Parts: sequence; C-alpha cells; structure tokens
Amino acid sequence: MTEQGKHRIGIVGGDGIGPDVIAEGLKVIAAAGVELDTVDYDLGGARYLRDGTILPDEILDEWRELDAIYLGAVGTPDVPPGIIERGLLLKMRFDLDLYANQRPFLLPPDVDMIVIRENTEGTYAGEGGFLRKGTPHEIATQGSVNTRMGVERCVRYAFELAASRPAKHLTLVHKTNVLTFAGDLWERTFNEVAADHPDVATAYHHVDAACIYFVDDPGRYDVIVTDNLFGDILTDLGGAISGGIGVASSANLNPSRTGPSMFEPVHGSAPDIAGQNKANPTAAILSGAMMLDFLGETDAADRIRRACADAPTGSTTEIGDTIAARVQGD
Ligand code: IPM
Ligand code: MN
Repeated sequence: MTEQGKHRIGIVGGDGIGPDVIAEGLKVIAAAGVELDTVDYDLGGARYLRDGTILPDEILDEWRELDAIYLGAVGTPDVPPGIIERGLLLKMRFDLDLYANQRPFLLPPDVDMIVIRENTEGTYAGEGGFLRKGTPHEIATQGSVNTRMGVERCVRYAFELAASRPAKHLTLVHKTNVLTFAGDLWERTFNEVAADHPDVATAYHHVDAACIYFVDDPGRYDVIVTDNLFGDILTDLGGAISGGIGVASSANLNPSRTGPSMFEPVHGSAPDIAGQNKANPTAAILSGAMMLDFLGETDAADRIRRACADAPTGSTTEIGDTIAARVQGD
C-alpha cells in the first residue's frame, strides 16, 4: 500500500449503469477529501463487441501494481452469457486471488450482517464439460472444487472478522445433508478453525433454512461464511431484505495483500435503465467506502457510510450530490 493520498486505483466503469454509478462514487470520495491517482480501463461487453478484448494479460500485470480496482458493472445483453462473466469478472477474482467476497447488509434495527463468500472455488471453478453435446444422449457435468487451503483461508478470514465485531458470532451456511463431500470438508475446517477462536460463538445452518431466517429473523446473523454459489444467491436475498440491490455493496478481497483488491456494487449493468440518470449509485458509493477502509482511510469511509444511512432518493446525480454534500459538511 502506498502512503495516504497517493492510492493508485484502476477504474473499470464497464457497461450500462456502471460508469454512471462509479462517477458518483468518485465524486463522493473526492468530497471526503481522499485523493486518488486513477487509471481508466475501457473493459466490458461493449469493448468486447468493438474489438474482441476481454482482459489481456498485460492489463492484469498492470493491475498487480495497483492498490485497488473500483468497478461499476460489466455485461451487455448482446454478448452470450458467460463470456464477460468468466473472461473478466471471474478471471479477476481467480488471477488476483480475491478469495474473500465481503458483502455487508445493514437495515436497523433488524439487519446487521456480513456475508463472507468464498470467491475462487466451488462451482465457479468451471470444472465440467459436455459429452455427446447436441445429441439425445447429451451429458453435461458441472463440478464443485473445494480445497482445504481455499476453504480454510476463507473461514479464517471470516473468524477474524467476526472476532472484530461486537456480536462476535459466525454462522457456517452450507448443505451438509446433501453435499456430503464438500460439506464435510467445510464443516471440519470450520470446527477446527473455531478452536483457535474461543471468543467467537458459532452456528451452522443449511442454506435452505438460512433463506427462511434471512426473511423471518435476520437478527440472528452477525457474520456468515459460505461457499461461492450459496454466497452468490444468499447475497441477492441479503440485498432484498435490507433496502434493495441498489444499496448492496461488496468487496472482492485479497486479504494477504499480495495484490489489489476489487470493489464493486452487487448489482449488474441494468441495461434497461442505462443512460437515464435513474440508477441508484448508493451501492457503488458504499463499495467505495469499503475500498477506503481497505486503503486505511477509515475516517472518510465512516463519514460516507453515515451520509448514506437514511438512503437518500432521487436521480443518480442527485443522490450522488446529496451524499457528497453531507460528507463534505461532516
Ligand atoms: C455477483 C454476480 C456474479 C457472480 C456474476 C455476474 C458472474 O452475480 O457478483 O454476485 O455470480 O458472482
Ligand atoms: Mn450475484
């Protein structure tokens, strides 16, 4: 990490509403008095359609020298599913080893939880393939990769996070009654790491039951740790119960800091409302606050979160202006 005020940040506005919400995020960060040294990268579905570029190795190598990457959203309906997701987003998560995907949800007085989603393995690893594709005897397999190292580092991160919070409570969410191999590895690892954290109270929930609790009794959760796909699904639900996906922020973290971490709203590119000044930039602004936390700018991050607390409404730029003005006056 560089000294304060000299953070080198790669900016990927991306597609659809991505560039608009990131512009508001940068506006608010500037209002908080944090100086960023930004480099823009034109990547995403639109760039792919223009010249076939997805994520060249030279750009990844440049990114390794940065302090963080701030990303809006990537993907357009004109590109078949999987190309940008795998080639850009997942490639970033895998190649930069962003193994902990941190997604906080806050809606007082009922919801105050953080989901830690394993971000480099599971079904996202892409194991599988076709046999006899396109024939009546076609077979498609899609495996789930779970390594002891990958599970353990994610679980350890979640325990450390839980230990730092007042409630000091961590729930493992999985489906150990059906996924008996992966679930067994996760549960054993969780219990072993728990022994190193006697200060953290623990629980285990099957993912289907967790869906009910998210809706009926979210107050029982403090920190949750779960696998990649369960975390993907649960965090959309987390957004839905805490103010909507328009305020759901996320950080793709490399906690060992061997390279940059990546910060992005949970929502996608929303092509139906792109360019209409309608998108809620709060999720991107709060993701910017998570980036500032990670860069050590915790006072600015706290001021941004306070300014977002009552979820201001309006157009994209109005919300950005309101939050920026509050941050400046705080
Ligand atoms: C998310 C998104 C991505 C995911 C998609 C776009 C690949 O849904 O960040 O939650 O599934 O991880
Ligand atoms: Mn998702």
